[in-house]
This record gives sequence, structure tokens and C-alpha cells, in this order.
Amino acid sequence: MILLYLHNFSYMIKKDNMIKIGILKESANESRVSALPELVGAFQKLNAEVWVEANAGNLAFMSDKQYTDQGAQIVSRNQILENADVLFVINPPDFDDLKKIPAGRILVSAMQPLINKELVLYLKDTKITSFSMDTIPRITRAQDKDILSSMATIAGYKAVLDAAMHLPQFFSMFMTAAGTIKPAKVLVLGAGVAGLQAIATAKRLGAQVEAFDVRAEVKEQVESLGAKFVMVEGAKEDKNAGGYAIEQSDEYKRKQQELVQEKSAQANVVITTAQIPGRKAPILVTAQTVSKMKPGSVIVDLAASSGGNCELTLNNEVVQKHGVTIIGKTDYPATMPLHASQMYGKNLYNFFKLLVNKDGQLYYDWADEIVKQTCITFDGQLMNDRIKSMYNL
Ligand code: NAI
Repeated sequence: MILLYLHNFSYMIKKDNMIKIGILKESANESRVSALPELVGAFQKLNAEVWVEANAGNLAFMSDKQYTDQGAQIVSRNQILENADVLFVINPPDFDDLKKIPAGRILVSAMQPLINKELVLYLKDTKITSFSMDTIPRITRAQDKDILSSMATIAGYKAVLDAAMHLPQFFSMFMTAAGTIKPAKVLVLGAGVAGLQAIATAKRLGAQVEAFDVRAEVKEQVESLGAKFVMVEGAKEDKNAGGYAIEQSDEYKRKQQELVQEKSAQANVVITTAQIPGRKAPILVTAQTVSKMKPGSVIVDLAASSGGNCELTLNNEVVQKHGVTIIGKTDYPATMPLHASQMYGKNLYNFFKLLVNKDGQLYYDWADEIVKQTCITFDGQLMNDRIKSMYNL
């Protein structure tokens, strides 16, 4: 009895100090949710209680009951904004909502701090602690927390499916009574996370795939997926760029455009994924290259939101130029809300573990580069070095 009493007593003490996590419903045009019901138990084991705004998971096909069955509570948006210790959301709340969050509380979202200066400064001035899941460094230890990789995986997969739906021909080879159908030729430009997933998906659909990247180190990965690696000699690489590409010389760009033109003219599908963080996406497919492509072929430009890798891409639009369909969609992850939310939530949970100490209390380990670089604002200061220097603060 005594043991039971003590057990209950210590449980109660812990309960008083429990971390209150709030999962907010996203804005109207977002189908994902920051964490699925399957994670509620895992958060509880970290000494957290989970509050969920009503209907938060609806568009990801998760009901309120599924959250409550796992031990979460459904509470009002205001209750979360005003009282949660930690707020989880993908897209940051608007300013009306932000005004309700007291100083010192933690907002974890995908803030895009490089382009959302007003938001960053507001969070700094109001002393809200903010972490941006899209600034997690690309180091090995951070891989299980990397939402950009998770979302790029979906984008690479969906880009191929979208191309297949727009293509006036099969992807795979067929031997039919009506003759032999040749497989589609797919060219993937940029073999990072999205590009490698696009290669794997196109191969699974039976296409012949070639891929190009400025980083020679990806050759092996491209080939292991069964694609042919093509490259232009003389690319500049920077080992300190965190696995990302850097700006190339004009001479290199010219040679590259020639190669891309030659390969694009033979391809039925071109999928472009090249990005240089913080800069406009490099133009790899010029208007002239598009004019040399086969009518009916398809370009999926995954870099549309940062200016596009194709000169003729229009952001968030599907257009036809010279008979070539050019797709500039930017919301592929939201078209697969269930797995996108599952992956985002798991990344979020893995990150959140870094903010909880062994006594089940929130703490900040500024010596941990993942915590330091993911933190944008804390106690009225900008924490992320890149954002600080970018905003000259
Ligand atoms: P990543 O950085 O892993 O891969 C980009 C690759 O492009 C790298 O391998 C890099 O070396 C290569 N690259 C850079 N400059 C190049 C050049 N001049 N020529 C050839 N290759 C070059 O990026 P990740 O995570 O794969 O994302 C790819 C793109 O997909 C990004 O632009 C990202 O914003 C976008 N994306 C689009 C989504 C959508 O719904 N449309 C959703 C998620 C991501």
C-alpha cells in the first residue's frame, strides 16, 4: 500500500511539472499536421502532456478521437497559444495568434527565417523562443531530425509521378501485340535528396535514367540506383558547405548548359532539383534548351519556389512552351499529408528530445550545434549565426 502510495505521490509531483505540448491546426491551405497520434505516447514518456487543437489532423486523415485514444487532450486554439510551454506547428501562426503567446514560450515550426525577416524580428522582440526545423544542420547526427530531407524525399517521388501523369507515353518498356514500346528517358538535374528519390522512383517505373550534379561525390549513389551519372569536369566544391553545392564559375555554367541542352533534347522527362541555400536557384535549362526538347516532353522544376532551374518555369503553375509541359508546383509534400505528417512529426520528436533533460524538464544545451543552429530567437536575441549575419544584427 505504502509503495503504491509513494508511487502515486511521485507520479503526482512529476505531473505538476509536466511539459505542456500544444499541436496547432495549420492554416487553411495546409493539409499536414506537425505530429500524428502515434507520437503522443512517445512525448508522454518525455514527461509531456499533449494538447491538440480540434480537427488539427483532419486533412491528414487523423481524427480527434485517434489523438485522444493515445492520451492527448483536445483543447481550444487560445488555450494552446496562451498556456502551452511548447507549440508545434509547421507553418508559423499569423501575428494575431503570435500576440497571444507569452514571452519565454517555445515555438517550433518551419519558419523559413532567411525570407521571413518580419517574423524573426517579432519573435526576437517579444522574447518568444523559436526553433526552425528548416535550419537543422545537415550533419550525420541530425539526419533523423531533418525535415528538409523528409519533404524533399516526397517531392522527388511525387515529381516523377506527376511527370508520368503528364507524359503522353509510357515510362516503362512494353512488348505488346501492337508492337514494342520504348522506355521513357528521364534526366535528373541535381542528385541530392529529392534527385536521388526521383531517380529511384523513375527506375522503379521502368525509365532509363541519367543524372547530373556538380558534386562528384554523388556519382556512386546515382550509379547504385541504376542510373548513369553525367558530369562536367571542373566543378568547384566546398567541403565546408555542409553537403550543399556552391556557386560555379561562368565558364563552368556555360559548359554545363551545353551538356544539359544535349541531354534534354534526348530526354522525355527532365526533373530539376538544383539548389544553393540562400540564393536564387541556378538556371540549368534555358529557354533555348526547352525549344530543342521533344514536343510532349515534361519538365518538373522542383526549385520553382526559389526562382526555378528552368528559365520558363512559373512558380506554382503548369505551363506549355514549345510543346513542352513545365511543372512548377511547390506543394508536393502537402499532396501526401499522411506520410508527410508522419515524417515531419518523427523529425520533430527526435529534435524535441534534445530540449528535454533527464529529469523530464525543458532545457537548452547551447553547446549542441543542432540546438544552437536550429534556434532562431531566444530571450530577445538572434541565435542562429547565419540569420544574424544575413540581417546584419
Ligand atoms: P539538396 O541540396 O539535397 O540537393 C540539391 C542538389 O543539387 C545537390 O546535390 C547539389 O549538389 C545539386 N546542385 C546544385 N547546384 C547545381 C548545379 N548548378 N548543377 C547541378 N546540380 C546542382 O536539396 P534537396 O533537399 O534535394 O531539395 C531539392 C529541391 O527541391 C530544392 O530546391 C527544394 O527547395 C525543392 N523542394 C521542392 C518541393 C516541392 O514541392 N516542389 C518540396 C521540397 C523540396
